[in-house]
Amino acid sequence: METKADGVDGSLILIKQGAEARVFESSFVGRRSIVKERFSKKYRHPSLDAKLTLKRLNAEARCMTKARRLGVYTPVLYSVDIVLHTLTFEYVEGPSVKDIFLEFGLRNGGVVEERMDDIAMQIGHAIGKLHDGGLIHGDLTTSNMLIRAATNKLVVIDFGLSFTSTLPEDKAVDLYVLERALLSMHSSCGNVMDRILAAYRKSSKQWSSTLNKLAQVRQRGRKRTMVG
Ligand SMILES: Nc1ncnc2c1ncn2[C@@H]1O[C@H](COP(=O)(O)OP(=O)(O)OP(=O)(O)O)[C@@H](O)[C@H]1O
Ligand SMILES: [Mg+2]
Repeated sequence: METKADGVDGSLILIKQGAEARVFESSFVGRRSIVKERFSKKYRHPSLDAKLTLKRLNAEARCMTKARRLGVYTPVLYSVDIVLHTLTFEYVEGPSVKDIFLEFGLRNGGVVEERMDDIAMQIGHAIGKLHDGGLIHGDLTTSNMLIRAATNKLVVIDFGLSFTSTLPEDKAVDLYVLERALLSMHSSCGNVMDRILAAYRKSSKQWSSTLNKLAQVRQRGRKRTMVG
């Protein structure tokens, strides 16, 4: 197999077509990899669009690197291509938390309570570390969390909507998004959010102000912060 200058040496297999990004499986210098391509939005002005796309690409790479520095597992970033607007990551082998939680929901699904507890704990700790480091993930859903099969460790992905902030409000909305996702998709998983929050309290020094805000956000919904 020929390796091109950009290191991508396999064919690209489309695995997800989103509104702003396409995700491919490929191979990078012989390793299984994920290529995430941000593409332009046709209705935006071309040069403004190119600038925005690049900004988002850089922000995603930077936030992912920051998360890793804060002690949260993320895929290894192999390369950033500012011409093709792509990020190339290590392919994490293992199921998503979404798949595990859905399987737990099925009777005789085979996922035991202890495994759920362990995953909930890892999620709470990871978010606590991100938030204490001033990083908001921005899209905390169970499909943006993978469990590496070799280690059973949580790997957080998709920093495409991440940003830095130390405001309790932003942290609370981050948690609220996850809570809504759990309620709508994983209602059969019981009080998994409570377990996540219990772990969050242990790992975030600022848990108190964040959870107070979360109570307020629950009352009004996340709407107010959606402006801008
Ligand atoms: N490093 C990885 N290893 C294995 N699978 C991955 C990896 N990165 C992404 N995936 C798979 O591809 C899917 C889409 O990736 P991702 O969440 O980054 O894109 P997206 O949701 O389209 O992004 P955005 O929200 O920024 O538009 C994931 O849900 C996951 O199934
Ligand atoms: Mg995603």
